[in-house]
Amino acid sequence: MVKKYASLLSADASDYKKIIRDLEQRGFTGFHFDIMDGHFVKNFAFNATIIKSLRKLTKLPFQAHLEIENPGEYIDMFIDSGCQIITVHPQTCNLERELRYIRTKNALASVAIDPELEIDVIKRYMSLIDNIVVMSVYPGFGNQKFNEKSLKKIKNIKRIIEENDLEITVSVDGGIDSKTEYLAIENGTDILIFGSSLFE
Ligand code: DX5
Ligand code: ZN
Repeated sequence: MVKKYASLLSADASDYKKIIRDLEQRGFTGFHFDIMDGHFVKNFAFNATIIKSLRKLTKLPFQAHLEIENPGEYIDMFIDSGCQIITVHPQTCNLERELRYIRTKNALASVAIDPELEIDVIKRYMSLIDNIVVMSVYPGFGNQKFNEKSLKKIKNIKRIIEENDLEITVSVDGGIDSKTEYLAIENGTDILIFGSSLFE
């Protein structure tokens, strides 16, 4: 059964409480928070204080998607704010060190692969990874068009996982709506991350 996470990046902040309750009732599995620092991406979004407040509204899992430089410095902060899944981008950090550290904190170690990156960048760390986020848009902004090239990447990653009998879930982030979700599922996605299409 495919799981659905909701990214609140494009949601109306004055309505977070109602939105979280509604999405919970609609059967969403968890919430995805895009943390942006104005450096790794040219945008700002969320922080640990906001996440800690929202944590009171639901028991569903929270994923921190760290679209920031030096994410290793902030792993504790986001785990302490109530996130169970921590996602980092390989080009921003010492990937092996951060993945190992996330697991020592009993959180799920997750890595995001940008459209221009190949699977090779993570291949040798597969045994340290719990979840792979295939970016189907360039990180930084909501409401971008789904990049169909990500489908082949999802398929390849899924094949590697199956061939090696690994326990890694594959997520897709960016441009997911009622049409693209089926393409993602057909190619093996386990977790769909919905953003702006929820709030149009
Ligand atoms: C982009 C973010 C996504 C974004 C998805 O940097 O990582 O999580 O919120 O939003 P949509 O679905 O609008 O592309
Ligand atoms: Zn995201």
